[in-house]
Amino acid sequence: MKTLVYGAGVLGSYLAHVLVQGGNDVTVLARGVRAEELERDGLVIRHYFQRKTTTDKVKVISTLLPEESYDLIFVVMKFNDFPAVLPVLAENASSNIVLVGNNPEAHSMQKYLDEHSRRKKNIAFGFQLSGGRREKDRMICIRGGGQMVLGALDGQIPYQDILQKTFEHAKYKLTILEDIDAWLKSHIIPIVPLNFATVGAGDDFKKLAKNKQTLMQIVVAMDEGFRVLETLGYTVTPASLVKWIRKYPRLVHLFLKLYHRLPVAKMIDGSVHEVVALNDVFNRWKQQAQVSAPNWDRLVIHKDAE
Ligand SMILES: NC(=O)c1ccc[n+]([C@@H]2O[C@H](COP(=O)([O-])OP(=O)(O)OC[C@H]3O[C@@H](n4cnc5c(N)ncnc54)[C@H](OP(=O)(O)O)[C@@H]3O)[C@@H](O)[C@H]2O)c1
Repeated sequence: MKTLVYGAGVLGSYLAHVLVQGGNDVTVLARGVRAEELERDGLVIRHYFQRKTTTDKVKVISTLLPEESYDLIFVVMKFNDFPAVLPVLAENASSNIVLVGNNPEAHSMQKYLDEHSRRKKNIAFGFQLSGGRREKDRMICIRGGGQMVLGALDGQIPYQDILQKTFEHAKYKLTILEDIDAWLKSHIIPIVPLNFATVGAGDDFKKLAKNKQTLMQIVVAMDEGFRVLETLGYTVTPASLVKWIRKYPRLVHLFLKLYHRLPVAKMIDGSVHEVVALNDVFNRWKQQAQVSAPNWDRLVIHKDAE
């Protein structure tokens, strides 16, 4: 399949690698230094657990022209980066698009594309359960579950056959969810307090692991966040996460303590700009729900304090 990965950061690079391994015709859209690296060295990935480095040849473009058509486009970037790309997608001739990454505002992005696209778009939203970070001119990637959860907002993804063919020979699992919007909205609830707490600890994971008060505050903040979602009528997904937080907060705290002591915790990359953007969405939900979240609010690092 002729595929484009739009966004050549950590997870986009890993996805491009998976697609090449699966025998697809893969193009990567990258900009600046990253585009130069990809053209010069190929797609170099250090696989963290497998302790191996792979180099794949991919086509590299820096601009998506309106007439360039792909069977499938994956846009893999931070939540705050999506808005700049939506007009480019709207102008482009391709129909089948998956927006991959944190995204509590899937409906408004779909609305934008529905209203502004030159031809009908079939949009799905996804989240890749992998991780990693950049290191000089390569990406260090953690395969994680080696899978993507995805779904459409209005029923079935109309191009499931294309997705199936694309991943047929790839070692990668696609999990299609009935309510991807609920999944994506729920996902920001643990992510925002955890990332703010990490920034607050100066990215020192061991320091955070020792700070019982902050770890317990994260657990309570998650509970507050889920209450806001529930008040607005969203289905919290997965339900088991909320159950654990409410029934066994001390165990969740212990899990966080252990997790932050693991070397792998440092490899999961967070971005303050994305977390601030996600928190802005949460603040709107909070106001709409008229539910307070004092522990959540105390963890927030304000932009000016960076
Ligand atoms: N990395 C992880 O450990 C991890 C784990 C779980 C979930 N996630 C989530 O997965 C999503 C993607 O994360 P990531 O780590 O892959 O992000 P990333 O490394 O920042 O990659 C995003 C890429 O998109 C590019 N980009 C942004 N705007 C663009 C534009 N207008 N035109 C062209 N390229 C553009 C960026 O280019 P520049 O480099 O030029 O800025 C960057 O290469 C995020 O929602 C993140 O929170 C990440």
